[in-house]
Amino acid sequence: MPARRVTAFAPGRVNVIGEHTDYNEGLALPFAIEQGVTVVAVPAGAEDAASGRIEARALDLGERDSFLLGEPGRAEGWRAFVRGATAELGAAGQTLPGARLEIGGDVPRGGGLSSSAALTVALCLALLELVPGRAPQEGPGADPIALARLCSRVENEWTGAHTGLLDQLASICGARDTALLIDFQSLQVERVPLELEGWRFAVADSGERHSHASSGYNERREECAAACRRLGIASLREAREDQLDGLPEPLRSRARHVLRENARVLVAMSALRERDMPALAKLLDESHASLRDLYEVSTPAVEATVARLRAAGAAGARLIGGGFGGSVLGFFAPGTALPAEAICVVPGPGAHVRDG
Ligand code: GLA
Repeated sequence: MPARRVTAFAPGRVNVIGEHTDYNEGLALPFAIEQGVTVVAVPAGAEDAASGRIEARALDLGERDSFLLGEPGRAEGWRAFVRGATAELGAAGQTLPGARLEIGGDVPRGGGLSSSAALTVALCLALLELVPGRAPQEGPGADPIALARLCSRVENEWTGAHTGLLDQLASICGARDTALLIDFQSLQVERVPLELEGWRFAVADSGERHSHASSGYNERREECAAACRRLGIASLREAREDQLDGLPEPLRSRARHVLRENARVLVAMSALRERDMPALAKLLDESHASLRDLYEVSTPAVEATVARLRAAGAAGARLIGGGFGGSVLGFFAPGTALPAEAICVVPGPGAHVRDG
């Protein structure tokens, strides 16, 4: 019998609004996009299966990796995710066999569209399928929150980026024509129909690549934790705006961004419900101004990209993801042509697996 071959797909995401709120137990409104990462997995032949060898190929990069499951060792770049995914699945009690993995995809790496989460989710789903005797309704693959947490550990522990759960949950829970209202305090994910009255979202790449491990991302997260310690609260979700005056800068500005961004997510939900697209466009602008001025995660390349999208007719535009480079999301009214540099993004299906 030929070895079973599985294909797992996990999408990238854009975030309509709610940036740098996830690790502050706040709110966000992302959607999974049609672009993503595909991992094809085949259990290794008898000899390699017994030794537990993983052979991985990154097709776009023309690179390979090879390691033993019991001793993955540390590595950089995409290899860190492969090694981390196998190690974290093993730590979660999954007995993986040796396997051959082929990785491909169409999300730009480090472009703010969550290529890392797409890679991790696709790897974990593909590997889980190979676990002998696995009951599909059990284990991390069956529970979106557990899977998101496991994937987030891969990024936190194996690449040093202390990111939250936004990208993983969006990739796992996404659905066609649907945005996700995520409450990171309760970890409730509500599916919201994304009906835009002919308006379109499009992303443009600032051309600047970031790594959350080396950008100011971890520093921002630490600043929010420091603000909480001073306020004597567990997360910024518990803070009130009038308490923030007592905080020193830059903690006050960071916390202010988070509180106001959470409020903007709720206003965006009302705008969507009322089909008030100009109001949604204005919220994107306000979010961007706050990320630039209070959270200070924009860069000259990002500002130039925002300016180009606005000049091309975007009614609202903002940086998405962690910042320090990456992509800008523009919101375009019906009848406005998209600039050549922008790619239209629509909500696509969440992560899934198929045989073959
Ligand atoms: C990155 C992280 C997410 C989130 C965003 C900012 O995409 O991976 O966890 O913090 O930045 O909203």
